Amino acid sequence: EIASIHGMRVWDSRGNPTIEVEVTLADGSTGRAIAPAGASRGTREAVDLRDGGTALRGMGVQKALDGIARHVAPALRGLDGLDQGAVDAALIDADASALKENLGGNAMVATSLAVLHAAADHAGKPLWRHVADSYDRAPKLPLPEIQIFGGGAHAGGRVDIQDFMIMVPGAASFDEVMEITNEVYFAAGDIMAQRGKLAGVADEGGWWPQFDSNEEALETLVAAIEKAGEKPGDRVVISLDIAASEFGTDGKYRLSLEDRDLDSAGMVDMLGRWIDSYPIASIEDPLGEDDPKGMAEFTRRFGGRVQIIGDDYLVTNADLVREAATQGACNAALIKVNQAGTVSESIACFDAAVKQGWGAIVSARSGETEDVSISHLSTGLGCGQLKVGSFTRSERMVKWNECLRIQRDLGKDSFVQGAPLAQTWWG
Ligand code: PGA
Ligand code: ZN
Repeated sequence: EIASIHGMRVWDSRGNPTIEVEVTLADGSTGRAIAPAGASRGTREAVDLRDGGTALRGMGVQKALDGIARHVAPALRGLDGLDQGAVDAALIDADASALKENLGGNAMVATSLAVLHAAADHAGKPLWRHVADSYDRAPKLPLPEIQIFGGGAHAGGRVDIQDFMIMVPGAASFDEVMEITNEVYFAAGDIMAQRGKLAGVADEGGWWPQFDSNEEALETLVAAIEKAGEKPGDRVVISLDIAASEFGTDGKYRLSLEDRDLDSAGMVDMLGRWIDSYPIASIEDPLGEDDPKGMAEFTRRFGGRVQIIGDDYLVTNADLVREAATQGACNAALIKVNQAGTVSESIACFDAAVKQGWGAIVSARSGETEDVSISHLSTGLGCGQLKVGSFTRSERMVKWNECLRIQRDLGKDSFVQGAPLAQTWWG
């Protein structure tokens, strides 16, 4: 039984205010979680409730905290904290809006996750084990997607493409993924330094994208993989998040860095050339969230060769997954709990993706904290993949390190390896 719910203002990796919620059950079990925040958000995702005005650059969370005290706590007190579905349903009821704007997705996600943590504490289990047991899943350590260069909204638009990442489906363990990623990350930094292009890091800790074209980032990434002693496309493959909604609407895409405009077909052709030329195994949001025709065309042409992830396109929404499947758009879903607003809706989206035979990737946001819930969710659901940003900065490393702790309990054999990408370029 839920005894108390308290919200508190804490601060995220960008120095912005965010919300931590602590839930206590009648038996004294407790759970705590912190809301992350996105910078390149989909228009259909749950919105954060912010105070606006000039103080804290409008990012204050007092209204959201008031909502927790006035509406969330009374609505949830007395409910069975082990019944996540009922708790989340009560949260959704209390908010009663389409995009969670009344209570705020930030207040809701912190509360929903904190309840899950409290239930795990009650069961005396680590969160990943509690998730696996209560949702009847086979836990597995995920294959990470790790950012080497940041771009797009995470680098002041320095390049158009948002994430240049690697995956190491050929690694034998999660531990080995970390080792190989370390080599590639620093090889990339060395190359940037040699070329006189080292200029610090972007928002999620990937190297700042000091490039003359978007493709130069890809070439440099391949060079870094080679410099790290790996054959590109062998154990290590490339994963991109285009985040096309950030530079395209109505089927028109503006590549500012290269001073050129592409229509939807032009984007599909360009990305297709990249898939032909580089060992790319996965592409996220290749077209805009308002471009279902482009997304379907891209999936028709390349869905057999690469994983095509919907992030802004699907916003962790089970209905949008089913709609996309009908359109023939995407073959994988990004799962961001704060896009949905609750744990239950996120798991429903994950299940909808699995039902379509799709891949799924649990993901962090660009604004993060020490919260490690997603490492546990990804493992406990046996989801297969995890994306949390780069290989530096503690708000990122804390998630990878938590997976290493889970590995100690679960065993190295529980790593999924390349299975999620088996049908792709790499397989
Ligand atoms: P975010 O974007 O800045 O909204 O968290 C991350 C992503 O696009 O995957
Ligand atoms: Zn994305």
